[in-house]
Order: sequence, then structure tokens, then C-alpha cells
Amino acid sequence: MASVTRLGYIGLNVIDLAAWEPILFQVLGLEARARAPGAPLQLRMDERHHRFTLYPGKTDSLAYVGWEVDTRDDFFALYDQLKRNGVNVVLADGATRRERAVMELMQFLDPDGARQEVFFGGVEDNAPFRPSRAISGYRTGEQGLGHVLLAAANPEASIAFYRDNLGFRLSDYIHWDDAQATFLHCNARHHSLALMNPCFGSGPGELNHFMVQAKSIDDVGRGYDLVQQLGIPLILTLGKHTNDQMTSFYMITPAGFAIEYGYGGREIDDSDWEVKFYNAPKIWGHNLVPR
Ligand SMILES: [Fe+2]
Repeated sequence: MASVTRLGYIGLNVIDLAAWEPILFQVLGLEARARAPGAPLQLRMDERHHRFTLYPGKTDSLAYVGWEVDTRDDFFALYDQLKRNGVNVVLADGATRRERAVMELMQFLDPDGARQEVFFGGVEDNAPFRPSRAISGYRTGEQGLGHVLLAAANPEASIAFYRDNLGFRLSDYIHWDDAQATFLHCNARHHSLALMNPCFGSGPGELNHFMVQAKSIDDVGRGYDLVQQLGIPLILTLGKHTNDQMTSFYMITPAGFAIEYGYGGREIDDSDWEVKFYNAPKIWGHNLVPR
């Protein structure tokens, strides 16, 4: 079957763009592309034209998630696959493709109404990535941007949707407190997508958090110092996950969902991967910060 192979980009609707700046620039060291006043803010984290787009507006919400395929043939094979499976998929117009900076683009909704996009040919910019703080950079490349965790009204139906339409494969499960989370991969990254029942304040189709992975633990450690100096609220302290073994912390964005800033996640080789079931998300740390 045709499969996506990477998380390529994320779009977010934000009410208070200015409030995001300390996280985006002082902590994560992302690079802002030049823009007209009031225009969406596009952000770089590597050689791609951009990885994040923030749309100033009246809501704080996930605008879309962009999944990448390896070839143009794969793009059209996946489009046919979605059509065959009865997904209401449309090819995007030229203006949208130019805004996303991709060659080919299709759009559809997941079972909870979260907009999903699949693209081929994300623009590689000839200008180098210029981080806004001194960082080693991000682990992207063949593993993509990182991961997203979405809440789903019916997680079993959503797991089937992403497996049967986009080719995701099972990584493992964690059940703890009120949460039941399923982790899915589409490359060597332990998970590019996780789905959980609505909990921790995330409703169906909503983004709970996205994760970016630093190339150096020192980037994360210095970021941890910076969030405390800048007064950026944490939701989980520094810790290490059971399943993907990522060392990370979680900060709360002005939109209410979180960003996980991590280092050193384990990788999956599908030829010998065993799907496991965990009863806790953490080996150590990741303590909930009271608000
Ligand atoms: Fe995560």
C-alpha cells in the first residue's frame, strides 16, 4: 500500500502571536521568514522553506498537519488509495501549494475533523537555516519534523483510519491515569503520530502537543534553563519516556497545548520491532507542574 513517510509541517491558528515569540525564538531557536504585517508567520527549523505556520486569528487551534511522501508517484498512488477507501480528499489549488511551499498537495479530514494534508516535494531552501539562538539544530531529515499527539473521540476508529489510509504502523501502547495512548510510526522515529482518548483537557481532533527533537542534550538543557528564566510555564518537568526513551520537557504554549522539546529518542527497525504495552509514560521525571 502507499504510505506517508514523514511528518512534514504543522499549521496552527493562534490568537496572540506576540505571546509565542519567547518560546519560538528564545527557547526553540526557530528562524522566522520575512512576512508582511498581519500575514501568517512561517518558521524554519532546518533546510526546508518552513516547518511551522502560525495564522493570527480568533481561535487557538490546530489548522492542519502535513504528511510527506517520498516520490511523486507515491503521492498519486496515495491519492488513489484515499479515493478507493472513500475518503473525501481534494487536490489543493496552486495558491495553497505555493503557501505550503510544496510541489503536490492533497487535503482531507480525519474522523475527528482534524485537517490532514499529504504532500510531495517540500521546498529545500538554498539559504541555510539561521537559528535565532545558538543550537546544534534539529533531528529531522528522513525522520521528519517530530511528532504530534491528537485526541480522538474513537481512538480505535482513528488508528484504523491512519493505518489503512496513510500506512502508519503500530509502535506501542501506554495506558496510565485516565489516558489510553497508541503510538504509530511511518519511519525510524519511534512515533510520528500518537492518538489518545479525550483527556488532560484535549477534546476530539485537538492537538495535545507536538514534539521537536534536538541534536544535542545541551540544547534541551539550556532550553530548560531558559524557560525558567523567561517564566514560560511547564506542564511536565524534564524526564524520560518509557516507550520512545526520549529525554524531554513539556512547555505550555499561549494556545493551551504543549510543545515537547526532546533529545535522544530510540529508533524502530520494522524487521525486529516488538509492540509493547506500558503502564506508565515515564521512567523518571516528567512530573506534572501544578498550575
Ligand atoms: Fe510526545
